[in-house]
Amino acid sequence: MLILYLTPEVWPYKRVGGLAEVARELPLALGALGHTVAVVTTKPRLDAQMEAGLQRLDVTLEVPVSWKRHQAQVFSQASGPGVTNYLIGHEHLFDREGLYGNAFGDYEDNAERFIFYSRACLELARVMGWPVDVFHANDWTTGLVPVYLQSIYAQEPLFAKTASVMTIHNLGKQGLFWHYDMPLTGLGWEYFTPEAMEFYGQINFLKTGLVFADMISTVSQRYAEEILTPEMGFGLDGVLRKRRDRLTTVINGLDYEAWNPARDPRLAANYSVDNPDPKAVCRQELARLFHLEQDSGRPLTAVVGRLVDRKGLDLISAAMEQLFDLGLDLVVMGFGEDHYHARLKELERLHPGRLGVHVGYEMDLAHRIMAGADMLLMPSRYEPCGLHQMQAMRYGTVPVVRATGGLDDTVLNHHAARPGTGFKFEPYDVPAMLEAVQKAVAAFKNHQEWRGIMQRGMSQDFSWQAAAPLYVDIYQKAQNYAAQRRRG
Ligand code: GLC
Repeated sequence: MLILYLTPEVWPYKRVGGLAEVARELPLALGALGHTVAVVTTKPRLDAQMEAGLQRLDVTLEVPVSWKRHQAQVFSQASGPGVTNYLIGHEHLFDREGLYGNAFGDYEDNAERFIFYSRACLELARVMGWPVDVFHANDWTTGLVPVYLQSIYAQEPLFAKTASVMTIHNLGKQGLFWHYDMPLTGLGWEYFTPEAMEFYGQINFLKTGLVFADMISTVSQRYAEEILTPEMGFGLDGVLRKRRDRLTTVINGLDYEAWNPARDPRLAANYSVDNPDPKAVCRQELARLFHLEQDSGRPLTAVVGRLVDRKGLDLISAAMEQLFDLGLDLVVMGFGEDHYHARLKELERLHPGRLGVHVGYEMDLAHRIMAGADMLLMPSRYEPCGLHQMQAMRYGTVPVVRATGGLDDTVLNHHAARPGTGFKFEPYDVPAMLEAVQKAVAAFKNHQEWRGIMQRGMSQDFSWQAAAPLYVDIYQKAQNYAAQRRRG
């Protein structure tokens, strides 16, 4: 099959969340199955070295946005067997510090930016002469692609058999814009209805994708159930319930080669499930790196990811003193809301030797943290899938998580009577979180028990090899539905 995988976040060019890693690894797994994948993304501001790895193609795209014709350059880079990344370059729209926004909030021209990008994906396929089997759109930024295929591009011969799939990585971000932006889409007002793109008076990009895609998927089973409820459906649960027959689930995988403690060159020592002892060397190094007390005997606990409410940062920052009282040392790495950066830096100053904070997300450091920590704390308010808990388990770091979405699907709650791979709690509040941490600390003190939890986690298999064929199946279903749709 010829698959176009669409998202503005692709590792190593740009990362905001886990989607960037998925956008690199899933296409590679599909390529390994013999499919051809073009990953079409936007060209962010890159450093010279990254820039040097790109090849500029001899085409200029003319992308209509309202009355304008945006000219876009196209760059490419081979990613792996069968997989090529294409970067759509537009200086004014995408050569910026942030992808979605900056410290002042979302960019005010996001409607134009992502309409441009969505149409550029279709224009690229047309100019290159690609008879695409599937456009695989991801999240709100690419939500208009499915409707374009059934409207502006419906008569395009290259797309005569083309289907679309929409994957939800986060239902909380929908791409809501005022109705005056409708003309930018190039679609008529007849699309501005509750059955199509309209959502309480606004245009909703994600809703549009969910309404028009031939198949819909999301990234964990529990999240798929959660988004059908009013509590977690962000106003789109009704739309999703209506299209329930098209909604499927594939849990994300982890790149088991990139994340391999036995071979990871970033680590101070390598270790494996059969030989976990050298992990202690990584732990020492991590404590040194973050200026924590050496050999404290206390469980070194990591918090990694976006420092935002959604990831449970409100719980963590409210409970910090109690976490110290329970005996944790903490390292925090991530980037997010300014007030969390400030609060965490302040706490770091107040608790020297107990808390280390790195504002920013560095992939190398992420590997070292997963290797050096004893536990990972991830009390997300909601979590479509989550990758850090899988990385943690792979590195023998025990996750303490809220039982939501993919966290619930991937972590098996540990009891002395029923051995598991981590610790879970349900209610989103400080006491529930502390109770789970307390259980983890108790288990930590029992060397045998702890080692069992670590080793069970390290033996889990969350690989893309299992996930990729499931997507192929979804693509085939989407093609069947698209054929039905065309027959009317
Ligand atoms: C988003 C979700 C996260 C998921 C990732 C990749 O970042 O918040 O849970 O793992 O997308 O699907």
